[in-house]
Amino acid sequence: MFTLSKLAIAVAAASMIVACGKKEEAAPAPAPATSPVAVPAESTVEVLHWWTAGGEAKSVAELKRIMQEKGHAWKDFAVAGGGGDNAMTVLKSRVVAGNPPAAAQIKGPAIQEWAAEGVLANLDETAKAESWDTLLPAVVADVMKYNGNYVAVPVNVHRVNWMWANAAVLKKAGVASAPKTWDEFFAAAEKVKKAGLIPVAHGGQNWQDFTTFESVALGVGGTDFYKEAFIKLDQKALTSATMTKALETFRKVKSYTDAAAPGRDWNLATAMVIQEKAAFQFMGDWAKGEFTAAGKAPGKDYICAAAPGTANAFTFNVDSFAMFKLKDATAQKAQGDLAAAIMGTEFQEVFNLNKGSIPVRLNMDMTKFDDCAKLSSEDFVATASTGGLVPSIAHEMAVPPAVSGAMKDAVSQFWNNDKMSVADGVLSIAKAAATR
Ligand code: BGC
Repeated sequence: MFTLSKLAIAVAAASMIVACGKKEEAAPAPAPATSPVAVPAESTVEVLHWWTAGGEAKSVAELKRIMQEKGHAWKDFAVAGGGGDNAMTVLKSRVVAGNPPAAAQIKGPAIQEWAAEGVLANLDETAKAESWDTLLPAVVADVMKYNGNYVAVPVNVHRVNWMWANAAVLKKAGVASAPKTWDEFFAAAEKVKKAGLIPVAHGGQNWQDFTTFESVALGVGGTDFYKEAFIKLDQKALTSATMTKALETFRKVKSYTDAAAPGRDWNLATAMVIQEKAAFQFMGDWAKGEFTAAGKAPGKDYICAAAPGTANAFTFNVDSFAMFKLKDATAQKAQGDLAAAIMGTEFQEVFNLNKGSIPVRLNMDMTKFDDCAKLSSEDFVATASTGGLVPSIAHEMAVPPAVSGAMKDAVSQFWNNDKMSVADGVLSIAKAAATR
C-alpha cells in the first residue's frame, strides 16, 4: 500500500526520468497540445499515458480528436516506457506537488490504492447517465469502482498470452504451423535457428521478461496453477515442482533470443518479427498495433496464436483512466465528457482497431475487426465461463503494485543471470511474492 507521504520519495526518481526522458525509438513526436478553436483553460484535459509507440500513438490520437470535436483542448502528457513504470513514477510526483492531471492511465489494483488516498473523482454521474453497469463485464466494472463508486473508466481489453509469428520466417525454416505446446515450440525454434534467423525477438526489460514468464508459467502449469501462484500468491504453488518446470522452460526460451536483447524496447522486438529477422515474440496484443501500423495482415504476413499450452486461457489486461479530483466545474465537465467519450461506441471501435485490443464495452459490432481480435473476443467470453479468464500479473491486474514490482525484479534477475540456479530462482520469486 502506498501513501501520499511515501509518494514524496518518488519525486526524486521522477525528476530523473523526466531529465533522462528516453523516448521509445521510432515513436512519432508527441501531438501538439493545441486545439483548432480557442478553448478556455478549464476546458483543457491533460491526460497522462505511456502510449508512444507507433500503433499506440495512433490510438491515443483518436481520443484527442474526439475530445477536440467536443470542444475541449487536449494536453498530451505522454511518458515513454513500455508497461508504464516511468509514467507511474512521474504521476506520483505530480500528485505530491498538488498538481495532478485531469486523467491518468492507471489500472488494476492500483486504482484502489489511488482511490484510498482520496485523490480520485467520483464518476457515478456519467456512469449512470451512460449505463456503464449494463455495458461492462462485471469483472471489469468491479476493478473500476472504489466503495461501489466509479473512479476509473476502462478503455479496452488486451490479451497478454499471445505468441506472434512471422509467416514467411516459419515457411523459410520449414515450420508448418504455430506450435501449440512447449515441446513443439522448441522444435520450431531449433529449425529457425538452423535457418540462420532469430527464433525469439525479446526486449530485455524487466516488464517484458515478466510478460514472457507469465505466459510460460500459464502454459506449463495451467490456469489453476496460475491462480494459486499469481493471484493467491500461495507459497506452496510458488515453490512447487510446476514452478521449477516453468523456470526451466523460461530459461530455455532465453537461449533462443539474440545477444542484443538487453534493454530493447518492445516495439523494436515486434519490428524484428515484422521485418522477417525473427520468428516469434511473446507479447500482449498491443504488438498487433505495430503489425497493423506497418500494413501487415494477420493470417497472411503474421500469425497470432495463444502462447504454447495456453489456448484455453486468457490473461486479461484492461487499460483504464482514473480521473483526479479537480475544483473547477468546467474542468469537471471536461472530465465527464472524456469518460463518456471513452465508453462511447465510436472511440471503442476506432481506438481498439489501432491498439490491437478489443472493446471493453459489451455487444460491440466486431465487423471491422480482424481475425485475431475476433478470436480474442470469442476467447474472452468463453474463458469467462470456463474459469480460464485470469488477470495478468505482469500488467498490474492481479496483485498490488508493490508485490508485482518485487516479483518482476526477481523474475528479471533470474532471466539475466544464467549462473543463478533454478532452485534459487524459485526461492527468490516466492520471497518476492511475500512482499507486503
Ligand atoms: C499497457 C498497454 C501498452 C503496453 C506497452 C501495457 O501495460 O496495458 O496499453 O501498450 O503496456 O506499453
